[in-house]
Amino acid sequence: MVKTYPDKLQIIIKNLISNAYRYTDRGHIRISWGKGDRGFYIIVEDTGRGMDEKELSKIFNRFYRGKESPGRGIGLSIVSELVDILNGKIDVRSSPGKGTVFTVEFESS
Ligand SMILES: Nc1ncnc2c1ncn2[C@@H]1O[C@H](COP(=O)(O)OP(=O)(O)OP(=O)(O)O)[C@@H](O)[C@H]1O
Ligand SMILES: [Mg+2]
Repeated sequence: MVKTYPDKLQIIIKNLISNAYRYTDRGHIRISWGKGDRGFYIIVEDTGRGMDEKELSKIFNRFYRGKESPGRGIGLSIVSELVDILNGKIDVRSSPGKGTVFTVEFESS
């Protein structure tokens, strides 16, 4: 059980999962969560197309979207704003052609 703003957390998780689903055409998506040193974390992993460094540097910009994206390129900019509001941290690791791991961490009392 964690104390947080459920509506904000839900938007964050929903965006990460829908991206994982959208940009993964083989393998799996894994969602895990747990207690960290000072709070809690959520990890959304996929084995999808992955991203290179150049793309990674842009994904949190509003309206940035990949060439094949059917979306508007706003999901991750909202995620990053909400993570900030909740005083959290977001980390992303990715390998082109292999997959992506997003980790969000929050402090909680
Ligand atoms: N899990 C992922 N694997 C590969 N690429 C990703 C992943 N998540 C995001 N991206 C890349 O980052 C871009 C920005 O993501 P973001 O969620 O902000 O926008 P979107 O998914 O294109 O559109 P929207 O979320 O507004 O529907 C995507 O267009 C895609 O190129
Ligand atoms: Mg999205």
